[in-house]
Amino acid sequence: MKSKRKGIILAGGNASRLYPLTNSISKQLMPIYDKPMIYYPLSTLLLSGLRDILIITNSRDELAFKNLLGDGSHIGINIEYAIQPFPGGLAQAFLIGEDFIGNDSVALILGDNLFHGNQLRNQLDIAQFQEQGATIFAQRVRNPSRYGVVELDSEGRVLSIEEKPTKPKSNYALTGLYFFDNTVIKRAHKLKPSPRGELEITDIIDSYLNTGDLKIQILGRGLAWLDTGTFDSLNAAGSYIRTLQNRQGMKIGCPEEIAWELNLINNKQLEYLAKKYLNSGYGEYLLNLLFEKENENIKLDKKNVDIN
Ligand code: TTP
Repeated sequence: MKSKRKGIILAGGNASRLYPLTNSISKQLMPIYDKPMIYYPLSTLLLSGLRDILIITNSRDELAFKNLLGDGSHIGINIEYAIQPFPGGLAQAFLIGEDFIGNDSVALILGDNLFHGNQLRNQLDIAQFQEQGATIFAQRVRNPSRYGVVELDSEGRVLSIEEKPTKPKSNYALTGLYFFDNTVIKRAHKLKPSPRGELEITDIIDSYLNTGDLKIQILGRGLAWLDTGTFDSLNAAGSYIRTLQNRQGMKIGCPEEIAWELNLINNKQLEYLAKKYLNSGYGEYLLNLLFEKENENIKLDKKNVDIN
């Protein structure tokens, strides 16, 4: 039987670069303009076709995430929660999430990473249908030393990955979205903590590279990848979302809308969700989706009558 893919959102960490904002609140609940940060990675996983999602957080913040997203049934999916007792590195997600992943493959997204752009769904689809091996996503950045850096050959194949190198071999940074087959669990069990005391995702990726099972997709300039871990990047992401949404009248990273578009919830369920948020304008936006669809249907019906 074809295995399915599950999703993990890693939303623990210290968020020390945002102190004192994050002294008592999770970074991934901070606002990116009109939504909590976690809505954006959640939307990316929904668009990838994933319906079973594990949110890994710390014990302080677990209840807040549960209050926000519950068991996911309101948007037609299943959300579970697990606690990371200390920030022991990104690759710890596969040990904490081992039972959740079971025999399936998995996509991991960092809770503070935001992806947006035209070709995103196509690129996610390609990764999603890749049953074996791993797919990573990289994008050109101005300051690669802050990231995992990918060295590529002239054919675009990965030669090496280095975590936060002082002398980066390229400008291509590893983004916080990774697709792995089920062997990731076995590979994670073999890891040893790095000198900084973390189980490194780059070591997992290295292991796929060594066995010839690594694929890479480069995100082009038409695609936005933002991480939101500092005051400035948090603010910049909020401005980006505000600018586009106000210009186009369409929301970015709205899980309710995506769930409805994907038929995970019906009109009635969307209307129910909308009515909870009428005061903020968020609900009005959701109601308007229904209104616009109804108008489209009326127009289509009319056209059919005209043609006949
Ligand atoms: P980072 O930005 O590397 O770390 P952080 O969020 O703790 O922030 P700071 O550097 O300001 O202290 O983490 C990237 C994402 O991964 C972020 O969403 C938090 C998450 N994360 C975990 O959930 N557990 C971990 O062990 C680590 C290292 C990160």
